[in-house]
Amino acid sequence: MNLILLGPPGAGKGTQAQYLVEDYAIPQISTGDMLRAAVKEGTPMGLKAKECMDSGALVPDDVVVGIVRERLQQGDCAKGFILDGFPRTVPQADALSETLQQLDKGIDAAIALTVDTEALVDRLAGRRTCPVCGATYHLKYDPPREEGICTKCGAKLVLRDDDKEETVRNRMQVYAQQTQPLLDYYAQAGVLVEVDGMRSIDEVRTAIKEALESQS
Ligand code: AP5
Ligand code: MG
Ligand code: ZN
Repeated sequence: MNLILLGPPGAGKGTQAQYLVEDYAIPQISTGDMLRAAVKEGTPMGLKAKECMDSGALVPDDVVVGIVRERLQQGDCAKGFILDGFPRTVPQADALSETLQQLDKGIDAAIALTVDTEALVDRLAGRRTCPVCGATYHLKYDPPREEGICTKCGAKLVLRDDDKEETVRNRMQVYAQQTQPLLDYYAQAGVLVEVDGMRSIDEVRTAIKEALESQS
């Protein structure tokens, strides 16, 4: 099963990707997580990416396309993958379809999570993430077992650098301008699955599963 998760910042892509990993035993490929790892390691690419990410802008297409192309060729993607946060521009989507064609693969579903702007702001403000294993929590909607501590690995939870109010506003704008056109792109390809992301985390998880099962 080759999946794409689409949706604005805070829609729940990462949250649902973690469940899809459990439910379908395929890896999550999050360009955001990979870029944050590069920033943390201080690689040249990470240093360049950090500037874009801190302002809420996108990292250049060639950088992310290169990362994803390499990742898709690793053995654990043989049975499928979940792209989380990629593609985000039409050129990225074109590059993805070219890469998949070369690998003799295709996209089974592009799942678009729809969520109101107000709810997005609330979700990002209360989000806490694990800098070690990448798990995501929410103070109100998905609290860790112990306050401030990752339930999965015990690390101290942090606020993401780009979850400041002004950066969030920019990320929303960038989404509307550069990423939203992908909804039409994948609708035309006949693989778009729209899921109401305004419901609880569990309800959204069930809705995605049902949509995928009814499709196959
Ligand atoms: P990225 O890391 O991909 O961030 P994003 O797209 O802005 O999305 P988020 O990770 O913020 O939100 P999410 O949808 O994963 O929501 P989550 O599940 O955490 O990208 C960051 C930056 O990296 C970009 O700005 C860009 O600079 C760069 N970048 C990355 N990919 C790129 C690319 N392809 N090209 C160029 N640049 C790229 O949920 C949010 C919160 O809500 C959590 O606290 C969660 O617990 C809670 N929550 C989730 N679902 C629900 C629910 N149903 N009800 C209530 N709460 C919920
Ligand atoms: Mg995410
Ligand atoms: Zn952790």
